[in-house]
Amino acid sequence: MNPNLRSNFYIFDCSKVLIVNAAMRGCKMITKSIQTALNKQLNAEFYSSYFYLSMSAYFEAKDLQGFAKWFRMQADEEYAHAMKIFDYVYQVGGEVVLQKIDGPKTKWNSFLEVFKDTFVHEQKVTKSINAIVDLAQKEKDHATVNFLQWFVGEQVEEEATAQQNVKRMEMIGDSKSGVYAG
Ligand code: FEO
Repeated sequence: MNPNLRSNFYIFDCSKVLIVNAAMRGCKMITKSIQTALNKQLNAEFYSSYFYLSMSAYFEAKDLQGFAKWFRMQADEEYAHAMKIFDYVYQVGGEVVLQKIDGPKTKWNSFLEVFKDTFVHEQKVTKSINAIVDLAQKEKDHATVNFLQWFVGEQVEEEATAQQNVKRMEMIGDSKSGVYAG
């Protein structure tokens, strides 16, 4: 950051700043509890990315490149979700504090189990997003409520896709010919 911008910053009255950018970070527009919740969600999105990358590795090892590629795309999407939160936290004058990312599951007993895990995982993510929306509503933090609407919509799509994938896999089972045809 340009140090001049930082030092000039203090002449602004935060309540009057309409356009917020990184140079105005000192104007905190989120509470500590929202910041903590967003940092936690940021970590959960990175974990999701790791989780899907682990699934991608599982399918790579089984020579199922189509599935491996699909899960890799999911991993990339989750990384993008994390970065969306990262950018938002700074946009509203908050601070990102990165935490340790838990190691994901690496072994599955069947293809179906992988897809079931994605569904259960996305349900958990939906719950945690909704909990932050609840908190932001309680705190009358309209900006964060608005920001999170994108995630609410995304979770509807992701849960629907995950559920559909489980149904398909239940029909196909672990038959490789079925997997290729599917
Ligand atoms: Fe970013 Fe699928 O949760």
